[in-house]
Formats: sequence, structure tokens, C-alpha cells
Amino acid sequence: MFLRNIIKWNKKFYPSVMRQRMFSTNSTSTDDNKPMTQNLNTLFNTFSDHWSPKIAGEINNMHLKLVKVQGDFVWHHHDVEDELFLVTKGQLKMKIKDPVERVEIVNQGEYIIIPKKVEHCPCADEECEIILLEPKTTLNTGNVKDDEKTVKDLDSVI
Ligand code: NI
Repeated sequence: MFLRNIIKWNKKFYPSVMRQRMFSTNSTSTDDNKPMTQNLNTLFNTFSDHWSPKIAGEINNMHLKLVKVQGDFVWHHHDVEDELFLVTKGQLKMKIKDPVERVEIVNQGEYIIIPKKVEHCPCADEECEIILLEPKTTLNTGNVKDDEKTVKDLDSVI
């Protein structure tokens, strides 16, 4: 009886999130979902390697990723995933075969979406910073296994 009254009182006076924070022994579940402002410069400054995407957030079944690129990547496509490349610094040269080979220039503040099955090869003359939005299943080299460029286990920057 005493316990039931405590639970009633608890529900009445504290919203669910506050209850979990105050009374739960496992508070990490609520903290993980706490909305927090992220700063792109701060996050990009935490790493320097190229062609190695870092997880910067989760949206539904998607990963928001940050990547620095320079030089040429590898030609590849993704059988089931579309990819977003949003350039936040520098200039991306996206080579595309659809089916004729061409180059799309993507400047800072611009983005390009590569539909599934389209052959593409991202390149950059100078270091370029990019935000990617793609399903968690997306492998950076798509259908191609490249000993140097393929990254299976991504590090997180948040
Ligand atoms: Ni790709």
C-alpha cells in the first residue's frame, strides 16, 4: 500500500522524463536521447584522417556522418541506398557515370544526392569537409571492397 501511494504520488508530480532521471538506476537511456546542439567546427576538429566517415548522429534508421576527403576515392555504387553529400567546406568533384562519365562540382553550401545503383567516385583537389546522410547499413565503398578505403566500423565523434 505504501509503495503504491509512492508510485501514484510520483506519477502525479513528476513528468516521465524527470521521474526516470530522479529514480531510475540506469539514467543513460534518457541522456542518450537528450537533444543537444552540436557544432560542426568542433566535431570536424576532432579528427584529421581522410575518407573515414565518423558518426555524428542517428536519425530514424539513418546515420549522420562527417567525413574529410582529399584526393581520389574509388569508383563504386550502392545497390539499395541513396547518398547525400552536403559540402560544408571546400569543393567536392563528384565523378558520375549515368551512363556517360561526367563531373559534378559541389561547392561549400551545396549538396548532391547520388541515387542507388549510380556509379560515382568522389574526389577533391584540396581537403573538403562533407556531411553524409545515409542508412546505417551503407558501406562507404558500396559494392567495392578496397583494402585501403573501405571502413566497416565507424568511429563516433559525439
Ligand atoms: Ni558512395
